Amino acid sequence: MTSLNRIKAPINEQIAQYDKKVSSWLKSDSGAITNILTYIHSTRGKGIRPLLVMLTHSLHTTQEQRELTNDRCYIGAMLIEMIHTASLLHDDVVDEAYVRRGKPSAHALWRSHNAVLAGDYILAKSYSVGLKLGEYDIVRYITQAMEELCDGEFLQSSQSEKLKMTRSIYLDIIYKKTATLIGASSATGAIAAGATKESIELMKSFGDNLGMAFQIKDDILDFEPTKNTGKSNCADIRERKITLPLLTVLEEATPSEHKKIISLLSNIRNKPSNANYIIDSVMNGGGIEKAYDVMQQYITAAKSQLSGYADSPIKSALLELCDYIADRKK
Ligand code: FPP
Ligand code: MG
Repeated sequence: MTSLNRIKAPINEQIAQYDKKVSSWLKSDSGAITNILTYIHSTRGKGIRPLLVMLTHSLHTTQEQRELTNDRCYIGAMLIEMIHTASLLHDDVVDEAYVRRGKPSAHALWRSHNAVLAGDYILAKSYSVGLKLGEYDIVRYITQAMEELCDGEFLQSSQSEKLKMTRSIYLDIIYKKTATLIGASSATGAIAAGATKESIELMKSFGDNLGMAFQIKDDILDFEPTKNTGKSNCADIRERKITLPLLTVLEEATPSEHKKIISLLSNIRNKPSNANYIIDSVMNGGGIEKAYDVMQQYITAAKSQLSGYADSPIKSALLELCDYIADRKK
């Protein structure tokens, strides 16, 4: 059993129910949209966000309470998964990324306008389901995270123009573009369970820490070959994104080395081979190891937030999910 399967095991039944509901909720009558939706569904990701919603829901419910509130939990999980799916459809257009999960991205197959519209459709449809079923508190909570996601992307895009990255701006970007939706995932499970305000806040903070670690790991994996990750290798540098592995090297570089790297980066669109020197600087300058250490601090913080919960298979699954995120290869 892979470790992700082991993490899912205590809630296999809920996951099966959830998958059935998502397929029925997101059906479209339009042939054009159906083709793209079917493709997106067939290239679905690891499902970490909906998994978190279901695990934290189970963490705060007895079997009996779970049966009464499962539907609320599935709606929250679906909204979060669909916001994530739509954001990636749009992100691949923004980043001009042609590969996702080892397959051509939707805009590579159907062109940008169709990929953007498919993302819009997924958002509209999932909101419409959430509102029709009257889950206003869940919809309201998740919508705040979506605002932050867009804000994070704007911030990242303006930074890639200016090339003046600092540690605090980097952390702000990854908090907004990634951590906040992962934090909303773990909080949503608690909300669906009717947990106390304190538990909801604790779960938000747990997911925020996990989300920070998730994005730092993503930024580390960007330096791995495409065959391992299913994404273009070193795409961040080619897109002029200064992420933690490069940032840690820049922080310790001499002024002349710093100037050289920024100058190579600023001209990378005209001269893609500039990437080679920058990648070597990251690999030889310990950028990956330093970023890994920062990521581990967030993992430790996330795990410590579970310390007040009694031992159970669900708590073990959440702890194992923390390690899975740190150790994942794609
Ligand atoms: C992936 O980052 C992208 C995100 C985490 C967020 C993208 C958000 C938007 C495009 C804003 C629009 C939002 C909605 C809800 C439509 P990355 O490019 O660093 O990671 P990658 O390597 O997986 O592409
Ligand atoms: Mg991207």
